Amino acid sequence: MLVTGATGGMGEAISLALANAGARVIVGYNSSLEKAQLLCQRLHGEGHVVKKTPVLESGALSQLAVEIAGELGRLDILVNNAGTTRYVAHEDLDGLDDALIDQIFNTNWRGAFACVRAFRSLLAAQGDGLVINISSIAALTAYGSNVAYCASKAAMNNMTLSLARALAPAIRVIAVSPGLVDTEFVRGLDPSWRDQQVDNTPLKRLASPSEVANAVLAAAQTLTFSTGCIIPVDGGRPLV
Ligand SMILES: NC(=O)c1ccc[n+]([C@@H]2O[C@H](COP(=O)([O-])OP(=O)(O)OC[C@H]3O[C@@H](n4cnc5c(N)ncnc54)[C@H](OP(=O)(O)O)[C@@H]3O)[C@@H](O)[C@H]2O)c1
Repeated sequence: MLVTGATGGMGEAISLALANAGARVIVGYNSSLEKAQLLCQRLHGEGHVVKKTPVLESGALSQLAVEIAGELGRLDILVNNAGTTRYVAHEDLDGLDDALIDQIFNTNWRGAFACVRAFRSLLAAQGDGLVINISSIAALTAYGSNVAYCASKAAMNNMTLSLARALAPAIRVIAVSPGLVDTEFVRGLDPSWRDQQVDNTPLKRLASPSEVANAVLAAAQTLTFSTGCIIPVDGGRPLV
């Protein structure tokens, strides 16, 4: 399986969980080579590799598909986890400049699509490939780090449905949609805002990265007749 953005908080948890379950993990990184190498050493089992997976560079992704086919022979699961954002208050329209909007949409939506496009043949080859898109509760609630981030995740959810239809039956496509997750990024946000989010969550806490990883694992191992669906991991946050 290939995890893009494996060097972030969530990518690490997903890689660890899937390796524990017996998967051979391709640790995808963009700029954090050293982090990727350290993570790769910590993974349970054998045969894990580190590969530069720059989701903005479609040519490099196609080249990587050739490399994976040659070196590993197969790719069963793609986890589109790479993502980017920056906090801009929703009412601050000038703060959300064109460069940031393009960076967010290009990484979060186009990058995920580009990965599916590049790895489609490999994923379909065994007849039961799986794409997991790491989306966000922001897609549904439109609360999130900025307006473009929320919209990029809504677009990812919509793409999940289109591609599930288009790529069936050889490839299932599922989105996992976390609420706020207890990662470094979230720990850096205004603590009073974070506390308020916890208060407004029926289960009264943030998700842990490993709970998001559990949903990915379930999609791969248990939910074998599911495709085109969005699995929430949000403690019931949209209910309040
Ligand atoms: N944290 C949350 O509360 C939360 C909640 C809901 C959804 N999510 C989603 O979960 C995913 C992971 O979040 P996180 O909190 O783990 O983020 P993070 O710690 O900021 O990690 C982001 C990852 O994305 C990679 N990345 C960024 N730009 C890239 C590019 N152009 N090409 C390839 N990789 C790129 C980074 O790779 P390098 O370090 O190698 O550059 C890094 O591994 C994201 O899609 C995010 O939107 C997060």
